[in-house]
Amino acid sequence: MEDGFTRREMIGASALAMSLASTSPAIARTTVLSPNPRRRQRLEQWRFHFGHAADIDKDFGFGRDQRTFAKAGNATEGAMPKFDDSGWAEVIVPHDWAVALPFAQPKTPPPKDRSDSMAAHGFKAIGREFPENSVGWYRTPIAVTAAEKGRRFWLEFDGVFRDCIVFVNGYAAGRNESGYAPFSVLIDDFLDYEGGPNVIAVRVDATLGEGWFYEGAGIYRHVELVSADPMHIPHWGIVVTSKVTAKGAEIRVGIDVANTTDAPAEAGLRLTLIGPRGSFTTIEDALPISIPAGERQTIERRTRFPIPMLWSLETPDLYTVRAELIGDRQVIDSAEARFGLRTATFDPECGFLLNGKPVKLLGTCNHQDHAGVGTGIPDTLHRWRIKQLQQMGSNAWRSAHNPPATALLDACDETGMLMIVEQRYNSSDPESLSQLERIIRRDRNHPSVILWSLGNEEPHQATERGARINAELARHVKKLDPTRPTTFAMDQGWDTGIGRVVDVLGFNYRTNQIEAYHGRRPEQPVYGSETGSTVSTRGEYETDPARHIVRAYDTEHPWWATTAEEWWTIVAERPYIAGGFVWTGFDYRGEPTPYAEFPSISSQFGILDTCGFPKDNYYYYRACWRPDQPLVHLLPHWNWAGREGRPIEVWTLGNTEEVELVLNGRSLERQAMPRNRHLEWRVPYAPGRLEAIGYNGGRRVAQDVRQTSGPAHAVRLTLAQRLATSGDVLIANAQVVDRRGRPVPTASNLLKFAVQGGQVIGVGNGNPNSIEADVASERHAFNGLAQAIVRVGAAGLVDVSVASEGLGGSSIRAVAAASGDRR
Ligand code: GAL
Repeated sequence: MEDGFTRREMIGASALAMSLASTSPAIARTTVLSPNPRRRQRLEQWRFHFGHAADIDKDFGFGRDQRTFAKAGNATEGAMPKFDDSGWAEVIVPHDWAVALPFAQPKTPPPKDRSDSMAAHGFKAIGREFPENSVGWYRTPIAVTAAEKGRRFWLEFDGVFRDCIVFVNGYAAGRNESGYAPFSVLIDDFLDYEGGPNVIAVRVDATLGEGWFYEGAGIYRHVELVSADPMHIPHWGIVVTSKVTAKGAEIRVGIDVANTTDAPAEAGLRLTLIGPRGSFTTIEDALPISIPAGERQTIERRTRFPIPMLWSLETPDLYTVRAELIGDRQVIDSAEARFGLRTATFDPECGFLLNGKPVKLLGTCNHQDHAGVGTGIPDTLHRWRIKQLQQMGSNAWRSAHNPPATALLDACDETGMLMIVEQRYNSSDPESLSQLERIIRRDRNHPSVILWSLGNEEPHQATERGARINAELARHVKKLDPTRPTTFAMDQGWDTGIGRVVDVLGFNYRTNQIEAYHGRRPEQPVYGSETGSTVSTRGEYETDPARHIVRAYDTEHPWWATTAEEWWTIVAERPYIAGGFVWTGFDYRGEPTPYAEFPSISSQFGILDTCGFPKDNYYYYRACWRPDQPLVHLLPHWNWAGREGRPIEVWTLGNTEEVELVLNGRSLERQAMPRNRHLEWRVPYAPGRLEAIGYNGGRRVAQDVRQTSGPAHAVRLTLAQRLATSGDVLIANAQVVDRRGRPVPTASNLLKFAVQGGQVIGVGNGNPNSIEADVASERHAFNGLAQAIVRVGAAGLVDVSVASEGLGGSSIRAVAAASGDRR
């Protein structure tokens, strides 16, 4: 680590020191960071077993003889520390058990006027009709030493789906209903400090859903164990807010300190700022604090920072503030909060402004599942998903319709992706307020977060009652975070109800109604909270209702939605519309649309499929959202044997001034490319090579080619990233090619993945109608492609290979960056 500040940081830091000198007795100076006396351990390895939602014997005695709750510490056998769980499966958290379940249809079909909740959840055998699959038990031992007696221990759960009881050595130590809100559980009273065993058991009941989309099941986000001194900074105990102006940044750090002993306690508070390049300086040396017995106080420090390094999409620079409590000459507790310095505002005329500059929100809405792993998304996969969208030019993500995983938010902070965080349940009852509070306390330091969304298309959206409920939620938000606006995603009734109590108003679809609303309410910033959404099946060019296939031209959409072109041409031309969030970035399981019947298990709204393989519309958005990168894209594929001489509907997408189409070396036509739109051509089919050439100023600047392929001959494997850390995952993409290496766009060969030094944890192919197993190591290619998610073993070196009967295989070796600690 570099000692001291870089020049740019130095100017800021010394000014900070000067300003601090006026607010505290501390003298700023650089220092060496002390080791953190806290223990923080990610609990990744658990034992898992299905319980049962109806059968007590199969649910490890849960509920028998009132045993679970009658006597403290004497819960059901599955929760007791000495219970033998050696026969349970070993799993790694994040873990979604639903993704491994078979696909199934409801045993009793729902009445015609009811929505099919199994379809909504992707036809997995979970829910009230499948009690044997709907409860899961997790157990893990934790190591505690006698020397740690007297310390506080708590567990931080980032998300469990859902309704869980956390047992510690047979004590019901905590419960949590929400499948999306984070929570913590204080556990030190229940531990055995004399040699254990100490066992955490979590009973998770995913019988009921919370959404109309696939939601997964289990401990699908990280869990951490923390042990700290009785005088400590509690969970989410540091909040940093900043005001950035042309004169610099004003920073306010609020630090909660809890004294959980029975006597008053004193300590010195040291604050250290760690700059974006790793340099650090102490900005508060030993501010004396004293906290009465059993109390918690917030200590506030304010300061000015004249030349901050701003967080932006291009330079997502992050600062960290470290707060240390010093008692008796040593650090007794330490906690950190990462933050960014930026302004993010919404203006009714200029749209969204980041650091004072208008930035169009080029967004997508996304649910939280991916092929192969469901909602149990490893950190690297979060990053990879963000990268796919950024490569398309997207700069914003709406976490629909629930708060995201912390790992996703961290990745957004680090890569410069803006985020709308959404509350799941739109009500003002105490539980909902508590969920909202936990979300905001967890997420308010993240610079990527620009809006708190209170909800989406609620039945009460346009009513006075809806307004009342959401006014209460908005008040709650402002108390916890006065720096960010609230929003709500509405699909009707914008002039009444909730539209009147949120700061920034979201339009779900109906993009063509925004203009009139803006005329009526020119004072309220607006954006498209759900836009588009074209439905399409990747690599398919003829709609076939019998096979649940939709052509991938930008023409098909549900009645409430539009094509990509329709919404974007409206938003692109109106600076006052802050931007739009396409429904959706990725296909997601559940809510199968446009074909709701089995075996459609996913929606087809995505710009990318469930594996993150781009559909053709990806290139429409990329052309529009990255106008500086010349692009031309051609569709469909060029394998139309039997249609020789018959016209094929060819589209070119792109952003060059002109496009020329060339078939087998013969120029067909050169046309001006209309901005933000596409060109359509009718090309009599002749096998060979169809080429689109993009020109700017008469110069050839972009090209795309479709070639008629021969039969499948080999499989080509590519790793989305070559380096990973041991325990981390790699995304391995397989493509079927012909003898000359040309992609075979219709191939459906069965591909078998094999890994040495690691493990395939899930596979997919993006087919919305595939009911093949996700947790497997083989998968049929779908239109030439399939994907495996590979966990890297402890040695940090993996060989991934793919083979298919009758085809030559391919293999690739990946080296881990470092083994061991991956945090
Ligand atoms: C919207 C809703 C989304 C999704 C979408 C499908 O109305 O907010 O969650 O259901 O429709 O088109």
